[in-house]
Amino acid sequence: MLDLILRHCNLPDGRTGIDIGIADGRIAAVEPALAARAGEEIDAAGQLVTPPFVDAHFHMDSTLSYGLPRVNQSGTLLEGIALWGEVKPLLTQEAIVERALAYCDWAVARGLLAIRSHVDVCDARLLAVEALLHVRERVRPYLDLQLVAFPQDGVLRAPGALANLKRALDLGVDVVGGIPHFERTMAQGADSVRLLCELAAERGLRVDMHCDESDDPLSRHIETLASETVRLGLQGRVAGSHLTSMHSMDNYYVSKLIPLMCEAGVAAIANPLINITLQGRHDTYPRRRGMTRVPELMAAGVPVAFGHDCVMDPWYGLGSGDMLEVAHMGLHVAQMTGQAAMRSCFDAVTAAPARILGLEGYGLAPGCRADLVLLQARDPVEAIRLRATRLRVLRAGKTIATMPAATAALALPGRPAQADFLRGGGAA
Ligand code: FE2
Repeated sequence: MLDLILRHCNLPDGRTGIDIGIADGRIAAVEPALAARAGEEIDAAGQLVTPPFVDAHFHMDSTLSYGLPRVNQSGTLLEGIALWGEVKPLLTQEAIVERALAYCDWAVARGLLAIRSHVDVCDARLLAVEALLHVRERVRPYLDLQLVAFPQDGVLRAPGALANLKRALDLGVDVVGGIPHFERTMAQGADSVRLLCELAAERGLRVDMHCDESDDPLSRHIETLASETVRLGLQGRVAGSHLTSMHSMDNYYVSKLIPLMCEAGVAAIANPLINITLQGRHDTYPRRRGMTRVPELMAAGVPVAFGHDCVMDPWYGLGSGDMLEVAHMGLHVAQMTGQAAMRSCFDAVTAAPARILGLEGYGLAPGCRADLVLLQARDPVEAIRLRATRLRVLRAGKTIATMPAATAALALPGRPAQADFLRGGGAA
């Protein structure tokens, strides 16, 4: 006897008419016409059931702080960093916790059940670190929060940053972060990469650095990050976030760089909403997009995820925790409009970041955690096209969020009473 069966599911890999049996919080069976019985059955009615969305790159300490104490007038990355410096002295632990919990509510409603968040460690009080460690425990029953010790002002450039970063790791922060392009010189940026990778190797931790987040075609920190990964045997545990300078790099140089990233097993995390708004700000026209080379990295076998990065903070005044909006933007910016390419964009907000974060039991195979999202869409491409409603979100087999199906009532002569957004593409 199972606890729950989801019947007639479409799966992200293209299988249709599949039943998913759940027992003790785990997936027990994935097959057509499952003969078993269960305490509860839900009819997915040919709609998509997927493991949850995963955000590989976020800043939960600054989220929902938009307008505090003022808005970013230029909209640039550097004014955002300066503005965050103004916000920091005003922060309280209670306010950070409250905003983070509110964001996690949004995330759960959107079927986003795992987030890797950077947390600024340059404030000697480590207020944000303590706040997010508290939040990590509070949300653990329904959301996996992984924290990255992020020296926003530069681990070498900011006084005390290295000591603060080590204290944050001692307190239980999961991942080593960095920001080499914000150090004083390219050489010091490379020194910071070496130092931080050595620290991660000593402590057996993963690495995720803000890396080459600029339009500088000569920025070379991802090369150093990949090389240090090989030197220290960190393959499969390191990610480079943003990598926007790769957009502007010389093609010959990139033809050497991408194989190096493959050799190092370094993952790439693009943040399409933020990259498209913050990069190219010094250009006139033509104006560069600034997102890293997503299809080329994917084709070479580099694991690629899309992150949300910011929601209503000093760098970005929009966003709502919707990883389908992120995938939608990534797809457009990278011109990934082929069928397989669009499915890869769905993968970049689900399975790919789950692997980068090292999530245990993620997926749709028997034995995996019964964390599932039922979408008002028939397949991943339709989910992205519609930024589909999350009809039901399950954590360990229990429903933790529902949302009514999106419908539009029409009053048009000789037309149906409802608009059917699921039509088209060979649909019935
Ligand atoms: Fe970031």
